[in-house]
Amino acid sequence: MARVGILTGGGDCPGLNAVIRAVTRTAINNSWEVVGIKNGWRGLIDKDTMPLTLASISGILPKGGTILGTSRTNPYKDESDLQKARHNFKELKIDALIVIGGEDTLGVANKLSEEGFPIVGIPKTIDNDLNATDFTFGFDTAVNIATEAIDRLHTTAESHHRIIVVEVMGRHAGWIATYSGLAGGADVILIPEIPIEIDKVCEVINRRHNRGKTFSIIVVAEGAKLKELKEEVTQDKEKDAFGHVKLGGIGQVLGKVIEEKTGYETRVTVLGHVQRGGSPTAFDRILGTRYGVRGMQLVMEKKFGKMVSLRGNKIVAVELKEAVAELKTVDKEIFEIAETFFG
Ligand code: F6P
Repeated sequence: MARVGILTGGGDCPGLNAVIRAVTRTAINNSWEVVGIKNGWRGLIDKDTMPLTLASISGILPKGGTILGTSRTNPYKDESDLQKARHNFKELKIDALIVIGGEDTLGVANKLSEEGFPIVGIPKTIDNDLNATDFTFGFDTAVNIATEAIDRLHTTAESHHRIIVVEVMGRHAGWIATYSGLAGGADVILIPEIPIEIDKVCEVINRRHNRGKTFSIIVVAEGAKLKELKEEVTQDKEKDAFGHVKLGGIGQVLGKVIEEKTGYETRVTVLGHVQRGGSPTAFDRILGTRYGVRGMQLVMEKKFGKMVSLRGNKIVAVELKEAVAELKTVDKEIFEIAETFFG
C-alpha cells in the first residue's frame, strides 16, 4: 500500500486540523496509508510518528491547534539532525510527504525537495505573508478575533475618552493589522512595511479631538518599527532556529509616547496568542479542507516540489520555490482604502 507522511511546523494556526482531516480522508478513499509525523521537522529527526486513520481524524475539524503537534525545528541548523531527517524519510517508507507550514517550514521543505525528496507544500500562517497564494488559512480566524477585540475596545475607549493602542501579530507584514483595523474602523493602522512617524500619529489623534472625538483606536502590528529606531521592539535578543527574535512591546512604547505627546490618557492591549488559538472560522475550515484535498491529489499525481495555492477562487499548484522566494507584504491598494478612514 502506498504511504503518505504529513507534518505541521512553525507557529500553530486555526485550520491545521481541517487540512490533516482532508489529506487523510482523500488518502484513505484512494487506498493510501497515512503517517502523521509529530511536532514538525522534530518528528522526522526523531522518527516520532503516529498512524492517521478515520478514527484519529474524527471530530477534529472545528478544533484549533494541530493534533500532530508542532515545533520551530530547523534540520538545516545541525548537520546530524539533517542526516537523521534524510535517513528517516527513507526509513519511514513514505512515497511522499505533505508539509503544512509557513516561510520557515516550507523553506526546509523546498530544500529537501531540491535534494530530490517527494514533497508537496500547504501554505499556513495567520500572518498571511507567504508568497504565491492570495490567502493562507488561519489568517481569517486571526482577523476575526482581532476585529472582535477592536469592537470591544471601541466601547470602553469611548466611555473613558481614551486612546487605546491594540498590538496584533504580524512579524514582517501587517496583514492582520490592516484587515482587522479596516473591519474594526481603526483610526490609525501601523504596519511593518511603513516606518512609524509618531508626530503624524499624534496629528491624527489631535485632528479627531478637534472635531469632537474624544477617543481613538490605534492598531499596530508587532513588527512595526518607529522611524527613528529602525528596529523592531523585541521581548529579548534570543533567536529561534530560523533566526527570528521574539517580537512584542511596540504597543507599550507607542502608548507611552502618544500619552506624553498628546496629553490624552492612553491604554495598551496586546492580543498575542489569543489570535492563534481556538476554533477556525468557516472560511479557514473550507480553505484548509480545499488545500488538503488538492494537496493529496498532487501527491497521487506525483506533482512534487509544488505548493497548493488560492488564486482568486481557484486552488492551483505553484512551485514551492516561488512560495518561499520572498515574503508577501501588504497590498498598497488595500492599505490606501484603510487610510481613507484615518483621523
Ligand atoms: O508566524 C506566526 C506568528 O504568530 C507571528 O505573528 C509571531 O511573531 C510569531 O508567530 C510568534 O511565535 P511564537 O508562538 O513562537 O511566540
